[in-house]
Amino acid sequence: MSPVRTPVLAVANDDRIGLFDLQRQRARLEADIKARMDAVLAHGQFILGPEVETLEKRLATYTGAKHVVAVSSGRDALMIALMAMDVRPGDAVFVPAFTFAATAGAVASVGASPVFVDVDPATHNMDPADLERAIAEVEAAGQLKPTAVMPVDLYGLPADYPAIAAIADRHGMAVLADAAQSMGGASGNRRVGALAPITATSFYPTKPLGCYGDGGAVLTEREDLADRVRMIRSHGRQGTGDAAMVLGLTGRLDTIQAAVLLAKLEVFDVELGRRRAIAARYNKGLADVVAVPTVPDGLESAHAIYTVRVRHRDQVRARLDAAGIGTGLFYSLALHQHPAFRQFDGRRLDVSERLASEVLALPMHPDLSDEEVDRVIAAVKAAVAET
Ligand SMILES: Cc1ncc(COP(=O)(O)O)c(C=O)c1O
Repeated sequence: MSPVRTPVLAVANDDRIGLFDLQRQRARLEADIKARMDAVLAHGQFILGPEVETLEKRLATYTGAKHVVAVSSGRDALMIALMAMDVRPGDAVFVPAFTFAATAGAVASVGASPVFVDVDPATHNMDPADLERAIAEVEAAGQLKPTAVMPVDLYGLPADYPAIAAIADRHGMAVLADAAQSMGGASGNRRVGALAPITATSFYPTKPLGCYGDGGAVLTEREDLADRVRMIRSHGRQGTGDAAMVLGLTGRLDTIQAAVLLAKLEVFDVELGRRRAIAARYNKGLADVVAVPTVPDGLESAHAIYTVRVRHRDQVRARLDAAGIGTGLFYSLALHQHPAFRQFDGRRLDVSERLASEVLALPMHPDLSDEEVDRVIAAVKAAVAET
């Protein structure tokens, strides 16, 4: 009887390399995180406790944003920012067609209409030329008022803010950055949070700066907007007053989450450096076999997600899974392809549609070893050669 042969690519479960791995980071930071959480349990101010204010101040210093208001999630940060900007039904908000559903969801939640703009095939971020076309189309149709542009810093790479701001200015529109994925990214000597007049970010656990639940923040140079965001996150009330001054919601960041973020902020730059080194190693190892991500001169990505583009993506993905490599699809659908957003469909979005069938995210987190990165590279090469 011939022996049962184990397929060459199969690996034991504990050898798997995850797309993300929060447990290694937890082990590294556990003592500090637990001490900070214990302090919150002891003082008992679970809502808007002192850690929240400390976090807001540290993030303002870190990013260069004048005001930081910590909120309940990235999506809530976007929605609260739109509410503070008074975006409403009848307004058109231009968003990239290739992003997470929350980008358009936040716009629709305030009753405004998301208008999908195609993305640049190299950076995967909003294409300023298509933004011009989309604005012209909305103006010609005369149904909606072009009100705001919401670029997304996809995978951690800042959008082309100078070009987008110039277009927005010409049309009297505001710019709100969806920086859910890009905390830690930069353009020249300015960090994400200070690249647009108002920015929303996410502290979802797998984000570059992530907490242990949901969390987010609104960052802005404008005091009036910051004041409104503070009111909206807390039922529309001002400070300790009872009166609801504006329509608000339960949109605060929990104190426990702020404590976790304060611990992670201490090592954030070191972790970003490691993400950069991993991305560079991947680029070098994979540039000949797949399309690797491009970071234009002058921009710094936060490398939240490392995404390549590859033909026969689903077969390559299945082979990587068999080889014990975790992968992800960010995103398998462009926004107009989601049933929830079909009503906002209507433009040609060829690049976004192509990307949705080609993108493949490989493991990326600061605790990946060089040996693991090399194993992923070898597995991708083998998978591409076999498909
Ligand atoms: C581009 C983008 N926008 C918005 C969000 C929403 O953030 P959250 O999950 O914290 O609500 C995300 C999160 O995944 C995102 O990637």
